[in-house]
Amino acid sequence: MRRGAWGILKSYLQFRKKCLPKGGYGIHSPFVFELYTNVIAGNTNEAIFESIEAYRKEMLSCDIGIIRKSVAESLNGGFRGELVKLSRIARTVSVPPHLGRLLYRLVKHFQPQVMLELGTSVGISSMYMAQANPNGTLYTIEGNEAVFGIAQKRFQAMGLTNIKPICGTFETELPHLAKKVSNFDFVFIDGDHNGTKLLQYFNVILSKLNENSIVMVDDIRWSNDMEDAWRELKANRQVSVSIDLFRCGVLFFRHGIAKQNFILRYGPF
Ligand SMILES: C[S@@+](CC[C@H](N)C(=O)[O-])C[C@H]1O[C@@H](n2cnc3c(N)ncnc32)[C@H](O)[C@@H]1O
Repeated sequence: MRRGAWGILKSYLQFRKKCLPKGGYGIHSPFVFELYTNVIAGNTNEAIFESIEAYRKEMLSCDIGIIRKSVAESLNGGFRGELVKLSRIARTVSVPPHLGRLLYRLVKHFQPQVMLELGTSVGISSMYMAQANPNGTLYTIEGNEAVFGIAQKRFQAMGLTNIKPICGTFETELPHLAKKVSNFDFVFIDGDHNGTKLLQYFNVILSKLNENSIVMVDDIRWSNDMEDAWRELKANRQVSVSIDLFRCGVLFFRHGIAKQNFILRYGPF
């Protein structure tokens, strides 16, 4: 069940107790220090951010309503099956700008060839990733046909031909895709906010990760079970470095570095 304001505050106070200060002080891993100071906490402003944010603005003022069908077993939004305005989706569901920019910077830095996103919605996070590496391919899966259609149309209008949108559930489409591709270099999991499901998706993806792959999970503090699942992901023996940024977490699978879990501040946190 989604945490209420008190649960989030409690979790945030625990995070602040354990996190390292901003600025990279206390990060003893050269890989993580360089990544944090130059990429995660980087502050580049790219022209394309404006076009993506203009699209968000357009969605924010859009009164068109769509039916949010139940695409997953678990409750994750509170308005499944109801008529919901696109403005509400853009406000409550899409990644906020600071997270979009983080996705952009990570993809731009590592230039992953095969990217995967679980949860397209209206396509805002997909746009950040796809534009950071026009030579890579981004597969993005969405189970709600209505938002899928809106995103797909916009990808076409923006000429984002490196996005391959897939309409269907993660449960059906992810195993198919995993058979088709040789590996996943960058994965962004932002779909069903359910800890058990998250672990299931991760297990499907795991066999397609290599030592340079990166997995980013959004909403790791959405609920107790999401936080438990994040702890389990960090502990996976194939994970060498984890970076907890409060709202999201990033996992690395590099060989030859001692396993370490970092808790770092980014954006408003
Ligand atoms: C948080 S939104 C994604 C937001 C998007 N990444 C962005 O920032 O613009 C999650 C999306 O995942 C979809 N979803 C949730 N569970 C799913 C499932 N099991 N299969 C397919 N889609 C699912 C929902 O329909 C929803 O649109």
